[in-house]
Amino acid sequence: MTSRDRILNLFRNNPGEYVSGEKISHLLHISRAAVWKQVKVLREAGFEIEAKHSLGYRLLATPDLLVAAEIENGLSCQLIGRTVVALTETDSTNLQARRLGEEGAIEGTIVVADRQTAGRGRLGRRWESPAGVNLYCSILLRPQIPVQQAPQLTFLSAVAVAETLKEVCQLTTEVKWPNDILASGAKISGLLNEMNSETEQIHFVILGVGINLNMVATQFPEDLNYPATSAFLETGRRVDRLFFLQTFLRRLDLHYQEFLREGFTPIRRRWESLCKLINTQVRVDQGANSCCGTVVGLDLDGALRLQLNNGSVERIVAGDIQPVEALKR
Ligand code: BTN
Repeated sequence: MTSRDRILNLFRNNPGEYVSGEKISHLLHISRAAVWKQVKVLREAGFEIEAKHSLGYRLLATPDLLVAAEIENGLSCQLIGRTVVALTETDSTNLQARRLGEEGAIEGTIVVADRQTAGRGRLGRRWESPAGVNLYCSILLRPQIPVQQAPQLTFLSAVAVAETLKEVCQLTTEVKWPNDILASGAKISGLLNEMNSETEQIHFVILGVGINLNMVATQFPEDLNYPATSAFLETGRRVDRLFFLQTFLRRLDLHYQEFLREGFTPIRRRWESLCKLINTQVRVDQGANSCCGTVVGLDLDGALRLQLNNGSVERIVAGDIQPVEALKR
């Protein structure tokens, strides 16, 4: 933890109160001049800090910034968020988490960034990642499960995202196979899960989560090939990104523990209850091939179970699905 993070923690532990420069200098083993320098850096980053002669420093307001110490503060998760890496900018939080995973980072390490310069989506697509508005987060897990079961974790993060959008933004969303969360039929969040494994053993899984929170219409690229939205566009209210992230991490932590204890069934049921396309006719596009059928649910490995018109049930492991009704419009 940096001196800056430790000063913020001191303010957090003494809400609304002055903390003397002497106390900070003593607790952090740094000079009074170094304390003042860190306060200046925090102010430049948008923290409103009052300095009063003979009383010390007092935190008046925090900016909408994702700072490791603030994310960790009061998080109380068992596994997720035990190490928090918060960056102003990175290429992709998934790539950064992968690098940390290869260096041996512990399970539950999370990487968040205010902005991504090379945010990645599924199938090599780009994920638009402007600064200061959304959530770009990657969670490193080391589950001791068979390699084939790793895709189940995508559904765990989908459920946690949908539940958090409901709890924090009062926004009802639906999940769409394999990795989307939709609000009013438009994409509000996408998931990109990647694995590092040998034939039989998972080294780690990265759950990559992008959620459009405060993005406004002009920030979406014009060439998107699907409708997209944000929590702000849906509700007209700005979202506190720190509170949203902490709520999401807590939910994810609970679901992950349940998953390790009880397996996929509870999360599969929850995902199915959030999926509006169950019992609906859809078209599945897989590159040059496509087929139609009725969505039955999820299979144990996360494959989509689709009942074809001849009555047989097929397993779909990759592709994009569209409701047939929407295609007629
Ligand atoms: C998709 O819908 O295609 C998946 C989008 C996933 C975006 C997130 S943002 C955080 C993490 N880092 C990335 O580069 N991608 C994922």
